[in-house]
Amino acid sequence: MLNLNLEELQQHPTPFYAYDLNLLRQTLQAAKQEAGKYNFYVHYALKANANEPVLDEMRRHGFGADCVSGNEIKAAIVNGFAPEQVVFAGVGKSDDEINYALDQDIFCFNCESGHELEVLNELAGKKGKIARIALRINPNVNANTHKYITTGLEENKFGINAWELEQVLAQLQQLEHINLIGIHFHIGSQITDLSVFRNLCTRVNEFQEWFASRNVSLQHINVGGGLGVDYYHPEQQPVPDFEAYFGLFDQFLEVRPGQEVHFELGRALVAQCGTLISKVLYIKNGQNTNFAILDAGMTELIRPALYQSYHKIENLSSGRGEVRYDVVGPICESSDCFGKAVLLPETKRGDLIAIRTAGAYGEVMSSAYNLRDKAKAIYMP
Ligand code: LLP
Repeated sequence: MLNLNLEELQQHPTPFYAYDLNLLRQTLQAAKQEAGKYNFYVHYALKANANEPVLDEMRRHGFGADCVSGNEIKAAIVNGFAPEQVVFAGVGKSDDEINYALDQDIFCFNCESGHELEVLNELAGKKGKIARIALRINPNVNANTHKYITTGLEENKFGINAWELEQVLAQLQQLEHINLIGIHFHIGSQITDLSVFRNLCTRVNEFQEWFASRNVSLQHINVGGGLGVDYYHPEQQPVPDFEAYFGLFDQFLEVRPGQEVHFELGRALVAQCGTLISKVLYIKNGQNTNFAILDAGMTELIRPALYQSYHKIENLSSGRGEVRYDVVGPICESSDCFGKAVLLPETKRGDLIAIRTAGAYGEVMSSAYNLRDKAKAIYMP
C-alpha cells in the first residue's frame, strides 16, 4: 500500500516526485522471490528510473542492470553494480558508448544489426578485446499494447529479423573479436495480457531449435521486459503478479541444460512506488468543462501527452462533492493534459493533487521545455 502522508507532502515545494521506498522494497522482494524459484536472472532496465536511491535498492536486491546508453552504464557502475551484471542494448550505440562499455568489460552487448556487429568487432579489435554479445532477434510477436511501445514486430526498427539470421551467423564466423553467448528478445512494454508472453516463449523455442540445428550453443536466453502494471487500480494491485509472470516462462520456455534465463524488467519494478505531487494553481470554468490547472505539466510527466496513457488522479486535500475537471498543466500545448472529465472532489486553489503510478518513465522523461525547473524527488523511507 502506498504511503502518502499529507502533512509531510505539504512541506515541499510543488511539483515534485514522491517515492515510497517501502513499496519499492516489497515489489523487489516479491520479484526476487518469484524469479529465484527458477534461478531466473533479472536485470533492472535503468531507463524506467535511474534515481540513485532506486538504483541502490536494485543493487541491494541483487538485480543486474539493463542499460541503453553510455551514461546509464556509468550510472550503474557508479552505483555499485558489477560490470559483469551489466547488459547494453540499443539500436544506435555510438562508438564512444561502445568503447566505454568495452573498457568496463560489461557482461554482454545486445546487438541489433549486422552493421553494429561489424563496428563492435572493429572497436573491440583495436583494444585487443573480445566482446560478448547476444543477438537481439525480432520475433514478430504482437504485444497488444500501445503502438509507440510495441517493439517486436517486423515493422519496428528493433532487432534482427528471422530471415537475416543465416547471414548474420555466417558473418559472425568472420568476426574474431566477438563471442556469441546468447539471444535476446523484447517485444514491447506495458503488457498486461500474459498470453502474449506465452506466444513469445513459443517463438523463442523455435529460434532455439534453429540455433541448435546449426550447432550453435547459447549460454543464455534474454526474454526482455514488458510486464505491465495496473494504472487504473494502483491500490488494489500495488505489487504486480510476478508469480504468474515468471511461472509462465518456467512452464513454456524450453531451457536447455546449463542455460540461464535473463529478464529486463523496468516498469513492473518501479511504476507504483512513484507519485507526481502537484498543486492546483487555478480553477477555470468553461462552457462545458471545468479546468483544474496544475503547477505540474507534460514537462514533469509526458506519458499522457505522448501515449494518451491513463494515470489515476486524486485530490489529497479535499473530500467534498464530485465534479468533473479536465486536469491540465501550465505548458503552452493543448496536449498538456493529464486527464479529461476526471471525477474529483470539489477542487480549489492550493489543493494537492497526486498523479499515481508515475515511478516508471516519469521523472526520467521530464524536460526543460518552457525553461521549466526540474522537479525534485523526495523519498519516503
Ligand atoms: N528491454 C528493452 C530492450 C527495452 O527496450 C525496454 C523498454 C525494457 C527492457 C524495459 O521494459 P519494461 O519492463 O519497462 O516494459 N516510455 C514508455 C516505455 C518505453 C519502453 C522502452 N523499452 C512508457 O512510458 O510507457
